[in-house]
Amino acid sequence: MAEHREYFYRRLHSLLGVVPIGLFLINHLVVNHFAVYGEESFNKAASFMHNLPFVLALEIFVIYLPILFHAILGVYIVFVAKNNVRRYGFFRNWLFYLQRITGIITLVFIAWHVFETRVQVALGASLDYSLMEGILTNPVMFWFYVIGVLSAVFHFSNGLWGFLVSWGFAQSPRSQKIVTYATLLVFLVVSYIGIRTLITFAYGV
Ligand code: HEM
Repeated sequence: MAEHREYFYRRLHSLLGVVPIGLFLINHLVVNHFAVYGEESFNKAASFMHNLPFVLALEIFVIYLPILFHAILGVYIVFVAKNNVRRYGFFRNWLFYLQRITGIITLVFIAWHVFETRVQVALGASLDYSLMEGILTNPVMFWFYVIGVLSAVFHFSNGLWGFLVSWGFAQSPRSQKIVTYATLLVFLVVSYIGIRTLITFAYGV
């Protein structure tokens, strides 16, 4: 019975990593990318998202609760669960470890990021271009954000590979190879979108 429950939680953990957390990550980075087209574009896009109907309920059920569940079980998997690390070849074994390391880095990054954006907005700061500009013109914070964004995007893209294999969408060696290239492309494109935005906030270009 306990095994059934653990299996169910692991499946839910896997699904939530893609829907909704992964989709939210992509949406978040694409909306922020409006900064590249100027301050006004970013402010419009951010206030559109902020003024969506039922925004608090959406945030709680589509973002906070799924991330909380995924993160708590994720920390358990990294530090407590027995992992069968020898089931893949050399390359996949490394990616398996990187998946865990980037999970922990992403957790630290998201906690700090939510504190200095969402929590500050709730305490009265205004959600606009200058909030992020103020944070990212500090070189230490800029590099912290670069590492945090790359870590989150890697974790999502490599996780997508694991998701597609473990849910049975890519079973043959050939389809797993195609999925490797596809998820590498996802990593490169989404990383570009995220890092390009950080450069605009930090250097105004
Ligand atoms: C931006 C936030 C995050 C996204 C988009 C995300 C996405 C994903 C995805 C898609 C998977 C693959 C699921 C699968 O293997 O079937 C995954 C796995 C995993 N995630 Fe996350 N995740 C995020 C944050 C976190 C955090 C904060 C932790 C905390 C440590 C974490 C820990 C893990 C672990 C340990 C796995 C591997 C699970 C396994 O091998 O069974 N993730 N994640």
